[in-house]
Amino acid sequence: MQIWKPKTNLRALNAVPLGFGLDSLLGGGIPTETITEIYGPPASGKTNISLLATVNAAKAGFRVAYLDPEGSFHLKRVEQIAGEYFDQVIEKTTLLEPESLAHQSQIIRSIIGKPFRLLVVDPITYHYRLELDRVDPFPTNQELAKQLSMLSWHARKKNAAVLVTNQIYSDFKGGYEPLAREVLGYGAKVRVELGIEGDHRTAKLIKHISMKEGKMVKFKIVGRGIIDY
Ligand SMILES: Nc1ncnc2c1ncn2[C@@H]1O[C@H](COP(=O)(O)OP(=O)(O)OP(=O)(O)O)[C@@H](O)[C@H]1O
Ligand SMILES: [Mg+2]
Repeated sequence: MQIWKPKTNLRALNAVPLGFGLDSLLGGGIPTETITEIYGPPASGKTNISLLATVNAAKAGFRVAYLDPEGSFHLKRVEQIAGEYFDQVIEKTTLLEPESLAHQSQIIRSIIGKPFRLLVVDPITYHYRLELDRVDPFPTNQELAKQLSMLSWHARKKNAAVLVTNQIYSDFKGGYEPLAREVLGYGAKVRVELGIEGDHRTAKLIKHISMKEGKMVKFKIVGRGIIDY
């Protein structure tokens, strides 16, 4: 049985802070009780933000389940971000490696209801994209919708933060769209779009339950994590 320290009781967590300007757009960080989706192009910072959330949750004493279908959870990068807290972060984090979309569902089913206060899936659409049948996308979309429903249930029952990242595709008008926009749109009540501009990156709030949408912050990825630009 998991015994929680008094300061980490069920109601003590409202959001997992990231430690840079995006927190203010989100009202404190990745909120609990819902799913937050962060999407953006390659190298825009999705994994760095996932790792920052993991480190900050673990530093505060919370358990984290990190689903890494892509193999981008690199210990060296975790060590740079966690610094002296590295051992604590590793001790608090359960790393899981989905090998297919169906396996990802199995893993999610096996962890929901357990005392994880942060769940990360980076990116949730890795196997989805590989397995999507363009002729009949229905079963693949349904599988993803099932995963989001389980994650949402966990977020509400366990007062947990759920962070899923998502890849994008070009819309041929010079812009981009997140994958599985509809399915993720129903599941994720908070959405952030990342971008790359010159020597910095941007994060724009697309959707939120209680914060003003449309605001943007600029940031830089550095050795110890992310700083404001
Ligand atoms: N120690 C570091 N110092 C500065 N920049 C770093 C450091 N470590 C990683 N980065 C930068 O982080 C960027 C990659 O960010 P990240 O992996 O979070 O992107 P991503 O959105 O997850 O990309 P992908 O879609 O490929 O998974 C790279 O441009 C890399 O240069
Ligand atoms: Mg990544």
